[in-house]
Amino acid sequence: MRQIVYGVLKRVGSFRFRVPAEDFDVSTGDYVLIHSSQMRFLGQVEETRDEFVLGELTRTVTRVGNTSGVGDSLSERDTTKVPKIHVEASGRVLCALGARDAPAVALDPDVGDRAGGVGIEMAPDEMVHSYVAKAFHTEGPMLRVGALLGVSESVPVRLDPAGFKRPTGLFGQTGAGKSYALGVIVEELILQTKARVVVLDPNGDFVRFKDDLKELGKINEGGNLCSVTHDERYEYQKVHHQKIDHAAVLSADPSAKGASRRFLRLSELDQREVAAALRLDRVKDAEDYHLLQIARDRFKRPAGEGGPSYGVEELEKSISGAAGYSTPATAHCVERLRRALRNSHLESLRIWGSGSADESTLVSLLRDDKVQVLIIDLSTLERLEKTLVASLLFRTLWEIQEDHRRKEDGKCTVLVLDEAHHLFPQKALFAEQELTVDWGSKIAGEGRKYGLYLIVASQLPSKVHEHVLTQCGNLVLMMMASQSDIDALRDSFSFVPGSLLERSKWFEKGEALVIGEIVPGPSCLLHFEGRKTQEGGRDLKVDWGEDLHLTEE
Ligand SMILES: Nc1ncnc2c1ncn2[C@@H]1O[C@H](COP(=O)(O)OP(=O)(O)OP(=O)(O)O)[C@@H](O)[C@H]1O
Ligand SMILES: [Mg+2]
Repeated sequence: MRQIVYGVLKRVGSFRFRVPAEDFDVSTGDYVLIHSSQMRFLGQVEETRDEFVLGELTRTVTRVGNTSGVGDSLSERDTTKVPKIHVEASGRVLCALGARDAPAVALDPDVGDRAGGVGIEMAPDEMVHSYVAKAFHTEGPMLRVGALLGVSESVPVRLDPAGFKRPTGLFGQTGAGKSYALGVIVEELILQTKARVVVLDPNGDFVRFKDDLKELGKINEGGNLCSVTHDERYEYQKVHHQKIDHAAVLSADPSAKGASRRFLRLSELDQREVAAALRLDRVKDAEDYHLLQIARDRFKRPAGEGGPSYGVEELEKSISGAAGYSTPATAHCVERLRRALRNSHLESLRIWGSGSADESTLVSLLRDDKVQVLIIDLSTLERLEKTLVASLLFRTLWEIQEDHRRKEDGKCTVLVLDEAHHLFPQKALFAEQELTVDWGSKIAGEGRKYGLYLIVASQLPSKVHEHVLTQCGNLVLMMMASQSDIDALRDSFSFVPGSLLERSKWFEKGEALVIGEIVPGPSCLLHFEGRKTQEGGRDLKVDWGEDLHLTEE
């Protein structure tokens, strides 16, 4: 145990200590054992700060003889001032040792307050293991996502799915392992809970969800991975088979096996979405916008019967016929709108369905209660196609969840979105992005009340809309070298100690800091592992050829 320069245990369950850096190598996120005069406590370090102090270094110097080397030898004490580093650390007390209920211990105010006998040491692995096992245990299902960092033995980390009621942000630079980690979380949500999971998949990472599981034994290759027992493997396979029957994939990629290719019909889009596709501005092109509304309304049937399904061709005919419904001056307007429709090349988008009743489209799959898992592969779609699909998805999901809320049937949907800076950008770079950015704010801000829970991932948190960022109650932070992105996170996640955010600069691939209701205790550092289905969009294996040998001619 290290004696510390000073240590304080505070009444509110926090601690602070200062130690010479050369004696004690402590970082944010570490678990420490604090000894006071009366009790021991397990704590977790949240902030560290280096301080330079001038320490005294005393040496005994022995000189032989005088300057000419003749005479008696002489010993002198030489005291010099040298700079030393002290680490000042603070954090939270997780539990008083021996206490059964782990967190939030009310400390005796007298205990250890500036007590001379306060000492500190790194918490032994078995103590951390037992804390994690107790604190991470709840009655319901838990998601096994990886192993704790910073302990020598493999300690499994389980996330509490109930914590996903608050929006979750997963951030890290490119190659940090975000999509892999997202995959691990999504698979566990699907396999362990009854929640409906809808994934907007920009890189085709999940298109192979219905394939056989990877050889699960291989999950353990390459590192201190948590082992998957034979029984667990069997259980995973069994549940996966059951879930496959309730899973659907929508993809325009011809190589995606068993996927539906028809995303939607023009008639399913609303006025804002069609106008965005035609690049019409509601204010600047007010006349054309209004005429479009008239042309679309002509398809409407009396209330209750629903509207017929129409495509681009039918819309053009309806625009031509719409002139009679308005003033004669609209003849120009009709011509302009028809031109806009033709110039938009809407008919060449690859997302259109044929309109047949038995076709599986985005809306029909969402409205089918049996579909528990829906993967929407955006990887081969153009920007406009992605935006239209996403906007229709958000709108339909919202309506469905409003319905569930009215019926109070307890059904929830977890909406997962990788590369969130494209659909929920801080600043819309293209007019059509306005369609989805509003949904980002709405779902992040109010989705919880309707059972619509959001998980977003991005390598550019500073480019994700601030309303989405600030609503995130859970943070999963992976390797992040960019200071501006860390600063953006510091602004939005003010409840997270700055030193913990900074630690992400030294993470390796797969390592993460997790904070929020999905983990018990103040925070957790872990290594994600155990992706079970085949990753569609993983890094390419590149053959860089033979080593180059420079030879002299
Ligand atoms: N925890 C992990 N264990 C094993 N392999 C991993 C892990 N995390 C990532 N990888 C591998 O590293 C590569 C990059 O990971 P990934 O695609 O998840 O990064 P990313 O952060 O999503 O990058 P980008 O922002 O460019 O999409 C992938 O091939 C993935 O299989
Ligand atoms: Mg990725």
